[in-house]
Amino acid sequence: MCGIVGAVAERNVTAILLEGLKRLEYRGYDSAGVAVFTNAGKLERMRRPGKVAELEQALLGEPLVGRLGIAHTRWATHGAPCERNAHPHFSGDLAVVHNGIIENHEVLREQLKGLGYVFTSDTDTEVIAHLLNHKLKDHSDLTTALKATVKELHGAYGLAVISASQPDRVVAARSGSPLVIGLGLGENFLASDQLALRQVTDRFMYLEEGDIADIRRESVSIWDVDGNPVEREAVQYRDGAEAADKGEFRHFMLKEIHEQPSVVQRTLEGRLSQNQVLVNAFGPQAAELFAKVRNVQIVACGTSYHAGMVARYWLEELAGIPCQVEVASEFRYRKVVVQPDTLFVTISQSGETADTLAALRNAKELGFLASLAICNVSISSLVRESDLTLLTQAGREIGVASTKAFTTQLVGLLLLTLSLGQVRGTLAAGVEATLVEELRRLPTRLGEALAMDSTVEKVAELFADKNHTLFLGRGAQYPVAMEGSLKLKEISYIHAEAYPAGELKHGPLALVDDDMPVVTVAPNNELLEKLKSNLQEVRARGGQLIVFADEKAGMVNGEGTHVINMPHIHDTLSPILYTIPLQLLSYYVAVLKGTDVDQPRNLAKSVTVE
Ligand code: G6P
Repeated sequence: MCGIVGAVAERNVTAILLEGLKRLEYRGYDSAGVAVFTNAGKLERMRRPGKVAELEQALLGEPLVGRLGIAHTRWATHGAPCERNAHPHFSGDLAVVHNGIIENHEVLREQLKGLGYVFTSDTDTEVIAHLLNHKLKDHSDLTTALKATVKELHGAYGLAVISASQPDRVVAARSGSPLVIGLGLGENFLASDQLALRQVTDRFMYLEEGDIADIRRESVSIWDVDGNPVEREAVQYRDGAEAADKGEFRHFMLKEIHEQPSVVQRTLEGRLSQNQVLVNAFGPQAAELFAKVRNVQIVACGTSYHAGMVARYWLEELAGIPCQVEVASEFRYRKVVVQPDTLFVTISQSGETADTLAALRNAKELGFLASLAICNVSISSLVRESDLTLLTQAGREIGVASTKAFTTQLVGLLLLTLSLGQVRGTLAAGVEATLVEELRRLPTRLGEALAMDSTVEKVAELFADKNHTLFLGRGAQYPVAMEGSLKLKEISYIHAEAYPAGELKHGPLALVDDDMPVVTVAPNNELLEKLKSNLQEVRARGGQLIVFADEKAGMVNGEGTHVINMPHIHDTLSPILYTIPLQLLSYYVAVLKGTDVDQPRNLAKSVTVE
């Protein structure tokens, strides 16, 4: 989703800004722009719909050279993705870039029009530029004017501003949308994600909610939400810039699919003893808190929500704990009745998803026992604001369609289930020991599933000319089917729906004909025979079946039935394993359809607006 980069230096900043935008590209966007206070003493900008490469091309023709600048990748919310709506937005000698959404923009727009301001875009951001311009009439200092401006904004924002009349600084404000300052020598930077700045510095200072910052070449000043000057801790990363390199793979998504055995291994490391899960993997006070838990409420979005749906089956079956799962955008606006001693669990790859963060903040007012985040980013807002944390070790995920983040989340959730069962005495020691052993073997099993890559690639051909697909699963495989259908629609743009197989005859069967492939995951469990009957219902209507089945399930190829045998695995872990062929299937269908696999249209990696 939208990205911000800013720089104040002694050298030309345009290349730094463009490189920063490129590093944020994976988050998803549909236009890009840059504003520079040029060496000729003028504030100038270049904006382009489409990719950063198009902006870069335009800048080759008309270079902007200067020592102060801000840049942005925009994911359209208010107004179409065109040049006019791309950031930076200007008002007088000000340039503004903005992540987030200003909810009272319409009221402010009318007020500002009344004051004579002329709007050139449909965005909520332009309102900020004009309002700040107006405030500068009373407060000549840019930071003071910004403080007065944000007081009138409702909604979420990460803001960066430069002014041609105060060209020694970038000023910034954070509320609901992350911002980090990159510290250099005689130069300083700003971005919505530190990854954007790793080419210029390894020292960072994270702004907190409500902070305003004044960033100059030799100094950084920060004020908190109450206007008091504050120091924010500077952190240094020694791990070197994380290279965004596809290696031997054609797309990041395929690389990330193939990384799953190693990242699952990393997520397990240091968290298992001989035959138990180490409960303190969730934090030093986890054992004491877990002993009190009587219910679990899981909240997440997208793929992370599907991980939560799988966990519900595990928590109820293995730990005997009632569990509810809800998408964050619904939970946050619902009147929720909280059962006593309920653990509030959020799941998020990025830890910055606006709805999940808002749900966590609401939950704090609702009397939950404690909050726990399963997250892939240690420095994220979600991790910082939760009582307990389990970090997945998926590494940076670039493909917008989440793959390795999902399977590592599932591992984290199984560790949580076993920990709760262990501490509360609801899980037999023998069962825990068996599952710990199975978890140790999981990376090898995942490797075996990945070896089916070329088989799945062939099956993908069945989908190339199709417009609709059904995914079926039963039990904990139902959320796996949901995740499979989400992957397919995200990257191949084929309409896909998931159903619990038992629901087929209550509606979706009406859609089945020979143009509607039906994908099914069929591990060898007690629901297998029931699933087989559901599949007969599809075949009888001429539907093409694609079945990923346990090698011992006794399913055979036949006319219109394509069976792909899966390595045998303990039933509890089967959702993790069966996710792999569905990821590969979506990937190869998307490649056949020629879509932008890593950056599918209209989608963003991290959704930092509501
Ligand atoms: C976006 C991404 C999805 C992701 C979802 C939740 O929609 O495109 O891949 O599952 O956000 O993101 P989170 O970072 O909270 O897991």
